Amino acid sequence: MDRSDSRRLSVSLIDLGEGHEAEFNTISTHFEALLIRKEYGRAEVMRDEGHPLRFYMVRYWTNANAAEQCHRDPEIQMLTARLYQIARVTHVVNGVRRQDAVRRLLDERRARIEADRRTGFDRRVVDLGRPDGDRRAKDRRLGPRRVRDRGEEVDLIGAARRAREYADAAFSQFKVGAALETGDGTIITGCNIENATYGLTICAERVAMFKALSEGHRIFVRLAIVADTEAPAPPCGACRQILWEFGGNLEIQLANLKEDKGTHQLRNLLPLPFDARLLERRTL
Ligand code: THU
Repeated sequence: MDRSDSRRLSVSLIDLGEGHEAEFNTISTHFEALLIRKEYGRAEVMRDEGHPLRFYMVRYWTNANAAEQCHRDPEIQMLTARLYQIARVTHVVNGVRRQDAVRRLLDERRARIEADRRTGFDRRVVDLGRPDGDRRAKDRRLGPRRVRDRGEEVDLIGAARRAREYADAAFSQFKVGAALETGDGTIITGCNIENATYGLTICAERVAMFKALSEGHRIFVRLAIVADTEAPAPPCGACRQILWEFGGNLEIQLANLKEDKGTHQLRNLLPLPFDARLLERRTL
């Protein structure tokens, strides 16, 4: 295994349907054996200590080509298709990505975000989440770090659906999940957390945004919001304000537990915003 490929891995989060443990064991045993036999690499399945039906499937690829070949392999595809019938699978790290493609994609995205920035005050100057250079190798930050290849491959809505399961909505019973994608592809999730005084309740969107800010992220691309309602559940007014101030004209994806409910640009949800540009120009 050459050194540059030795850390090339893919990770999928597997939420298994109840009663399918035996089949899942068979599938993963086959999968692990196939990866070794065909020299694609090796796979390891780990159970999440906190969730009896949640697993992490880690694939350590021999190299980038092996990973690509594996994805195209009909035997692998058959196993994957069986897995999809019994589990919800979210790809959280994609080891097949090619560095140059990722760089190009991020550059494009950054250029788009830059072009979209409002003139005047903008606090999103530096994304402290991943400074340039190889600092990450020496100083790995704690917290979620999920890398993706192409934006479309990130299941942002899936991440928001899972986050929603942690919502603490004892008073309203209205659970909301949010997933925020940062400029470097990290996904940071949030859920609403209610409080006996009601007023201290915090929405899923703000939890996600504050978590991201507290981990040094300053550039944001998309936010997915999930609630169990037929009509789309857009962010509340307070969240729109916070999202605008820190995320600018984010793309907001709405969904319920089953389907997509549309995408909006934040500037359309918060026309005529009050923001720090006004404070800068005030005359006393
Ligand atoms: N909630 C959110 O988490 N996000 C929204 O955008 C709307 C409302 C939460 C707050 C409260 O816990 C519950 O939903 C009912 O309002």
